[in-house]
Amino acid sequence: MSATISLGVKASAPNEHGYRSFSLGELTFSRDEYFVYVHWPTGRHVMSADGFLRSLQRDVAWEFFYGIVNFDGVIGTVNHYGTVDLFAGRYNDAYRKAELDHAENFETPVIKATFQAMLDDWTNAAFDPFASPAETGGAFGPKRGSNTAAITRRRVTAKRMVGVPGDEALRSDANGHPVNRQFLDVPQDEPEIRAEPGFEGQVAAFNLFAYLSRSNVTWNPSVVSVCKDSLYCPTTEEYILPIIHGNDRVEWFVQLSDEIYWDVEDRDTGAVRAKVVMKPGDVAAMPADIRHQGYAAKRAMLLVWENGSRDLPGLIASGKAPTYPVDF
Ligand code: PHB
Ligand code: FE
Repeated sequence: MSATISLGVKASAPNEHGYRSFSLGELTFSRDEYFVYVHWPTGRHVMSADGFLRSLQRDVAWEFFYGIVNFDGVIGTVNHYGTVDLFAGRYNDAYRKAELDHAENFETPVIKATFQAMLDDWTNAAFDPFASPAETGGAFGPKRGSNTAAITRRRVTAKRMVGVPGDEALRSDANGHPVNRQFLDVPQDEPEIRAEPGFEGQVAAFNLFAYLSRSNVTWNPSVVSVCKDSLYCPTTEEYILPIIHGNDRVEWFVQLSDEIYWDVEDRDTGAVRAKVVMKPGDVAAMPADIRHQGYAAKRAMLLVWENGSRDLPGLIASGKAPTYPVDF
């Protein structure tokens, strides 16, 4: 039996585990106590429910992000900034060669509404897909309640540079932003500002380490400064980046603390290209033709530096701009 909830969301009645099934075009999604099942005309796929929900959470919260969001080596989305491809096996050499891959294009609001409904229906009360595994309950079992507050939390977006008057609430225990258990050694003192006479009140500074030490989410870059297309998006990382991100532009990583391992693969085939270990102070440019997934054994601070220009994907795809950032 099929029921339309809103904005073309196609959902079934709950199954024996309490979960609805969802469909987008010819792709269907269902879940039971441990797993998520995806079917399309030429194939089927299974994923662990926890990893699937962590990926789904980020795809929804990031409005499908830059380029490709692979939930794993088979399922994912491509952002065309207005429409989104939902694919199975499209960026997987074996599926492509066997001609078993499948992709369909949807208006962004349509796929977003279905993804949101699926995320809400499949996330139990105990589970927070943005939290590290050590800081959340489990994703498994029959349907038990919901956690709408956690899955609809807004990405913390600075209106101006952090540090200017008005953002203090983000940096205090009293406002529900305590220092994370793994950053208790991070000094909380703020910089002393000595402005030239006449410039008092116009110069701002803040302690980025202290700010990040209070983040209660993992693998969720937040825009902290904007200068034209230059976006500074620091984030705190623990366990595994749930998605394998396929770039449509170069992005820079600055390792601010601790350590992250990156698996870097060819964006289109998944062939291994590099294993990268980033230690504090290391800087890496991720090329525009790769996909990557990060691993952090201990909560780490990472600065993701994005170029938000709308022109870049087209320039790179047409060969007018290179896939790498610098000629040495
Ligand atoms: C990335 O794909 O570049 C990325 C995504 C989320 C993070 C860090 C990096 O938290
Ligand atoms: Fe990336």
